[in-house]
Amino acid sequence: MQLAVGAAGREITTVEGLTSGGELTPLQEAFCDKDALMCGFCTPGFLMALQPALDRNPAATDEELLEACSGNLCRCGTYPHIQDAARAARARGERLRGPDAAPAAPAAKQDHETGGGR
Ligand code: FES
Repeated sequence: MQLAVGAAGREITTVEGLTSGGELTPLQEAFCDKDALMCGFCTPGFLMALQPALDRNPAATDEELLEACSGNLCRCGTYPHIQDAARAARARGERLRGPDAAPAAPAAKQDHETGGGR
């Protein structure tokens, strides 16, 4: 997390810029699959926090994924589902599918992905 002034002069991608051709990214699909949103107000922030973390390290640990989200709040309390979605995206070894995205690298096998449920 950083102040907006820290991004002065740099390229900025918003949540709308994650998709390519209207297709959901694997992380966005995982948010749907794992029921990781209720009202959706917080969802862009969580996606924009998690996607770069997974792009930097497709085998990020649970703690690293949690740390990536540390600046985001969800008033609806979907945190367990958001973490399930992050782990699901990591387990698939999926990365950003944007035009500048690097080819996906295989992710480390994770045995602790949960099924979720409210
Ligand atoms: S889903 Fe409503 S604030 Fe997070």
